[in-house]
Amino acid sequence: MCGIVGYTGGRQAAPIILDGLAKLEYRGYDSAGIAVKNNGGEMQIVKAKGRLKVLCELTSDGENLGGVCGIGHTRWATHGEPSENNAHPHCNDEKTVVAVHNGIIENYAPLKAKLMRRGYTFYSDTDTEVATKLVDYYYKKYNEPLRAISEFALHARGSYALAVMFSDYDGEIFAIRKDSPMVIGYTDGGAYLASDVPAILKYTRKIYYIDNYEIARLNANGVTFYNLDRDEIQKQSTLIDWNAEAAEKGGWEHFMIKEIHEQPDVIKNTVNYFLQDGKLNLSELKLTDKQLSEIDSIIITGCGSAYHVGIVAQYVIEDLARIPVRVEIASEFRYRKHVLTGRELVIVISQSGETADSLAALRDMKERGIKTVAVVNVVGSSIAREADGVLYTKAGPEISVATTKAYSAQLIAMYLIALKFASLRKTLTEAYYDSLINELVSLPDKISRVLENKSEVQKFASEMVDKKDVFFIGRGIDYAICVESSLKLKEISYIHSEAYAAGELKHGTISLIENGTLVMGILTQSELIEKTVSNLKETESRGAYVAVLATEGNDNLPADFRKLSSLPKVDEHFSASIAVIVMQLFAYFLSVLRGNDVDKPRNLAKSVTVE
Ligand code: M6R
Repeated sequence: MCGIVGYTGGRQAAPIILDGLAKLEYRGYDSAGIAVKNNGGEMQIVKAKGRLKVLCELTSDGENLGGVCGIGHTRWATHGEPSENNAHPHCNDEKTVVAVHNGIIENYAPLKAKLMRRGYTFYSDTDTEVATKLVDYYYKKYNEPLRAISEFALHARGSYALAVMFSDYDGEIFAIRKDSPMVIGYTDGGAYLASDVPAILKYTRKIYYIDNYEIARLNANGVTFYNLDRDEIQKQSTLIDWNAEAAEKGGWEHFMIKEIHEQPDVIKNTVNYFLQDGKLNLSELKLTDKQLSEIDSIIITGCGSAYHVGIVAQYVIEDLARIPVRVEIASEFRYRKHVLTGRELVIVISQSGETADSLAALRDMKERGIKTVAVVNVVGSSIAREADGVLYTKAGPEISVATTKAYSAQLIAMYLIALKFASLRKTLTEAYYDSLINELVSLPDKISRVLENKSEVQKFASEMVDKKDVFFIGRGIDYAICVESSLKLKEISYIHSEAYAAGELKHGTISLIENGTLVMGILTQSELIEKTVSNLKETESRGAYVAVLATEGNDNLPADFRKLSSLPKVDEHFSASIAVIVMQLFAYFLSVLRGNDVDKPRNLAKSVTVE
């Protein structure tokens, strides 16, 4: 999704803004632009289609652009093709009101028509130009920037993080947000705004999260916040507990491989945070044991990999805690006519905490009076703030578009929720409960062992690099692992891939198996292995090349199956945490071998803030 960076203070703005935009590249974009202004000077706007480096080249890394106040943007096209013309910043005809925007103005068409009736003309296809000219219209009408911004908010529908400069207001940036992320920072050196913390972390760890319909006014002396009535409001800052290095590559070739290797630590941190002196503490759910005991079913929702965590959790929670669990893709869930008892717990899983469909699902459930809990990585994000309770995963900043460490941390949070319900519902013996806790504590070492054997996976990837289609099959939790493995593979290697419940393939999809099609079987669930092996055999006899990922000790597998590295033994409820590491590595190595942009795969965005 689009990235926004703004700076105003005593230093040259453009290099700071371009550096910040580079930190937001992971969000996905197809064009970039910047506007800067010196006190008393003209507004300078430079835009370029394609990578940020084009804009950096055009401006000599910003050195050619004088000015101590500015806003920059990386655009992920929604309205209008990726082009210089559609790139942000957008401006009014006089270039006196300039804005960048993330989100979608849903009623941009009627607003545009209204502005056209008032004499405005438009040079781009974007909703952002409409937003900018709407602000301009109200600025001309009321001659007051805060009023112009609040009138914009009263008339625009949709989602936005909007940053505006008015040439009449030297050294000032005005910003507002609704359902799109925006953070503000201030140090002695000046004031900053950005779509995400890594863009400004180099300068400050003291961050303000602005809420929906709050306005921020930034200048060299500080930041002031207002509500839509333009009354000043006080806001608390949050101290970010990870440092700038955490969001840097630190010598790794890609963020993805760095983040894959961070997983033992991330899991350790997440487990240790919620397990104090061997006792599980989930008080951040903000639900008493009595309230939790009254819950009669769990609904899990999320998108992409977060949804896949939900699929694993469904098996784990139902089996360990014997409570009905339903898991549903947030973009479908939100439109369902649900039949609810009022005794459900809804768990929304999201790394970014800003995914539009997940947020909408959460709001829908809250409106119906259902208890909600979020499992979120980004502190202060919308989902985290709006859910009744939040379990923060301790993954640190995840930059690679393809999630790895956040997925793993989400699994841990869901295992812990399973254990909490199991202990309240007394579904496990004390000894088994304790052994599961020990298993969680032992996971990081086991994952480190898998990582030590990564060259085996690299070799396998080099043998498979020309495959056109890959099928992942498994049953139970193995199926859940397949779904994530398949998404990981397709999103960064661009190889077509599908995940199938092993027993389902023969109901149609098996007709796609040809000579040499790669079929990968995930075999960690001992009770289901024989069945999946039969399904693998069915594909092999139709020409498939079969490879399997199994837990060590499983020696009864057909000799002609290609065996990938054996997985360290773990309680089978938690096997997704081990198996997925191999599949992340497989996708990563294939992506590298095929020369793809691993961290920023085509067409994708890290945080999907549009529906
Ligand atoms: O930020 P979220 O966890 O809500 O994001 C959900 C999905 O967009 C995300 O998991 C996506 O599928 C990733 N690209 C997967 O690697």
